[in-house]
Amino acid sequence: MWKEIEAAPADAILGLTEAFKKDSNPNKVNLGVGVYKDDQGTTPILKCIKTAEKQLIEIQTTKGYLPISGDPAYAANVQKLLFGADSEVIASGRAMTIHSPGGTGALRVGADLLKKFNPDGKLWVSTPTWANHKGIFGAAKFEINDYPYYNPETKDVNFEAMLAALENVPSSDIVLLHVCCHNPTGVDLSNDQWSQVVSVAQAKGWIPFLDFAYQGFGSGIGEDRGTVEKFAAAGIDFLVASSFSKNLGLYNERTGALTVVSPSAAEASVAMSHLKATIRVNYSNPPAHGGLAAKTVLDDEALYKQWVGELAEMRERIIEMRSALVDGLAARGVEGDFSFIKRQRGMFSFSGLSDEIVIWLRKNKSIYVVKGGRINLAGLTSGNIDYVCDAIAEALKA
Ligand code: LMR
Repeated sequence: MWKEIEAAPADAILGLTEAFKKDSNPNKVNLGVGVYKDDQGTTPILKCIKTAEKQLIEIQTTKGYLPISGDPAYAANVQKLLFGADSEVIASGRAMTIHSPGGTGALRVGADLLKKFNPDGKLWVSTPTWANHKGIFGAAKFEINDYPYYNPETKDVNFEAMLAALENVPSSDIVLLHVCCHNPTGVDLSNDQWSQVVSVAQAKGWIPFLDFAYQGFGSGIGEDRGTVEKFAAAGIDFLVASSFSKNLGLYNERTGALTVVSPSAAEASVAMSHLKATIRVNYSNPPAHGGLAAKTVLDDEALYKQWVGELAEMRERIIEMRSALVDGLAARGVEGDFSFIKRQRGMFSFSGLSDEIVIWLRKNKSIYVVKGGRINLAGLTSGNIDYVCDAIAEALKA
């Protein structure tokens, strides 16, 4: 069956990790996949999760199926995180949340749902965007267009061009927006710019699909939800794909959520019925463990507080690594101003390193960076920062 078939190319991000694992160089550094590492280079299980898991094992009596949409208490906790506990959206019942297998699963369920009821709608993504966005929506048979986002000259958002493009998006189309910690650039819109985007969505009638995989990695849990609150206040239809992979470190538990917000509770409940139908023919119902662990943390005052502290630690370590990289390059006399790396937010830096340099770093130094120059700052540690800075300096001078 496969004799005449060409092998598929390795995944742009996860394929790098496969290659990294096979690399025998003891100095190798993985700055590819967006996974948090502590200063010892390990991806820790958060302490709040360890405690929650112990509690779960004590009280669990069954491994019976979850409902198609997941545990309702998990969904309620996700909504509190996304909108704030006192949100009108929650009180009015016009948001419906399902537990998805990770943020990727949320995007795919949302894509399938939208394709079913809006078959001619096209998807718009930022230039650039997460490498898998086009794959997910392409697999759901969407035609995909780009809107301008990053300006490599200013190392900032090209907001005028972005807004002009969004003003021309037809009302039947869907616009994918990164709520915070834009992947891959690390460059976000300001509050005022978000207000303008919300106004355009409201005026033009296209459907915003918010990708919110990094809540808490920008400025904090509450601060980062500000954009979602703006869309909620507009009273329009929109979707949010969120994830606990990064902020609760639940990567391999595939713990995400898709939230569909509608202008009314009646419409939201119709949306939920179709969400369930979409899920049933896909993976039937979600895996339980990650969602139950997340719910346990979010429901318990002391564990929640511990989580906020652990999240702040992760966020602050990444910010320290931004400075260490910029200062390390400057100390080595590398030409050019890399200070923009300090202004970016979240796990990633769109470093400006060319694909040629990216290939050179991998081949000569076993340093793995995503094509396009995206660096995962959380892969830097006090143990490898000098090696990485030396290597980049050498590459840029070579
Ligand atoms: C990333 O962008 O590296 C992460 O979101 C992991 C992934 O699935 O690509």
